[in-house]
Amino acid sequence: MDSMKQKQFIMVLDFGGQYNQLIARRVRDLGVYAEVFPYNTSIDEIKNLSPRGIIFTGGPNSVNDTQSPHVDKKIFDLGIPILGICYGAQLIAWSLDGAVVTDNKSEYGRTVTEVISNDGLLSGLGIEEIVWMSHTDRIDKIPNGFKITQKSNQCPVCAIENDDKKIYAVQYHPEVKHTVNGDKVLSNFIYKICGCENSWKMTDFLELAKNELKEKIGGKKILCALSGGVDSSVVAALLSKVASTNLTCVFVNHGLLRKNEEKEVRDTFENNKMFPMNFVYVDARSRFLAALKGVTEPEQKRKIIGNEFIKVFEEEAKKIGKVDFLAQGTIYPDVIESGLKGSATIKSHHNVGGLPSVVDFEEIVEPLRFLFKDEVRKLGLELGLSDKIVNRQPFPGPGLGIRIISDITEEKIKMVQDADFILREEIDNYVSNGMSKPSQYYVALTNMKTVGVMGDFRTYNYACVIRSVDTEDFMTANATKLPYDLLEKVMTRIVNEVKGINRVFYDLTSKPPGTVEME
Ligand code: XMP
Repeated sequence: MDSMKQKQFIMVLDFGGQYNQLIARRVRDLGVYAEVFPYNTSIDEIKNLSPRGIIFTGGPNSVNDTQSPHVDKKIFDLGIPILGICYGAQLIAWSLDGAVVTDNKSEYGRTVTEVISNDGLLSGLGIEEIVWMSHTDRIDKIPNGFKITQKSNQCPVCAIENDDKKIYAVQYHPEVKHTVNGDKVLSNFIYKICGCENSWKMTDFLELAKNELKEKIGGKKILCALSGGVDSSVVAALLSKVASTNLTCVFVNHGLLRKNEEKEVRDTFENNKMFPMNFVYVDARSRFLAALKGVTEPEQKRKIIGNEFIKVFEEEAKKIGKVDFLAQGTIYPDVIESGLKGSATIKSHHNVGGLPSVVDFEEIVEPLRFLFKDEVRKLGLELGLSDKIVNRQPFPGPGLGIRIISDITEEKIKMVQDADFILREEIDNYVSNGMSKPSQYYVALTNMKTVGVMGDFRTYNYACVIRSVDTEDFMTANATKLPYDLLEKVMTRIVNEVKGINRVFYDLTSKPPGTVEME
């Protein structure tokens, strides 16, 4: 990254490990810019970029295999401190005349280790340290000039260092939170060993991203599908700062948005001097309703919504004509999901995946590709987006379409919007009074009608479900233990204020076996 030349930064060389971006992110969190580069970045380029330190990531290969990624040994003579992690640690030993062997047993997960020397990389660590391991190969012979600084029962060489040459290696993953003092190890490397200063903030990323995008996009045309979700809103706001009216954002209202969402998106982006752009609003509510009429099967509903969205977008793209770039709000967890996991399709996720085939464009731009969700949120605030937009909860592409069980009608959409609004309002009240915020919460409408009594009258209306989950990564989740008085308050408000609903359930199902969404 050219703009980094003048700045102190840590170069993370990628050997294919799944935590490579996480390493860069941890270093940035600690206050120093870090960026991932391919493992075979040339020595000349490294010299040219002059990082303050280099980190070799983990990777799935064995260093003893000649086909595995290796480094030009000149890298060890550049005088730049190096830290190798897992495969990266083995690579250091292998490259500098040590030896690596394959154990007959893998070491995986939480491991108790003993720190032998804590005056260098491990400075400030205790004698016993919990680390996260994930390896089968291990260092068997350490290179000349190195000393062993940490060991475990199964792994006699957990960490080595050569303080004179400033080369360090750890067999475990300091970037993973399960390594209790992992941040300390990384912080020792970047501050004590590489001599960096605390110099990195989100404002810097914003400047950097703006400069890079300006250089790339110049005066060319760029198109962006704006859903109103956090990621696409941040992309739109960022691009508007560099492309101005060369940026066209198309916002399709499929009618399955949360209450007030359409207004919030339009208020933010339509005719707002803060975010200059060519804003196209498409009211496609009736067309989605017509396409979904009478459809009850969840997958069919998802497909109809996805296909209809692409059709609407195609029509708009035709009006706009050829563009140079198509922007997408891909963030790092999406990159991992699509790149690393070959898991079975539980639900067909609908985002903007089908758009590239209907837009006439030259190149895709994904400015958030290396950011994690909370970093995207920070960037959004930095750009001046409101807290409401930036701190939105995850909302599925098919929107309320998968929170209305069975067929969808205008009346049901209104019911679920109103009930969901009440839940969000009440949870937000509790959160501002100290309750910790659940990861995701919403109200869904069931297709069950039950008998009730309101005043002196019998009612026969719909039942709705409150869903609230806590999760780290949305792959597994538990129902939130919401305070009973909060649930009661929400129930009372929903049955009193929402026409058509006379009963409220709370969904206690964890994921698995349930999913976060209903359909
Ligand atoms: P599930 O229901 O699969 O949800 O447990 C996990 C997370 O993914 C969100 N979700 C979606 N997001 N398009 C999306 O962009 C979709 O089709 C979709 N389906 C579920 C869900 O809201 C939760 O955060």
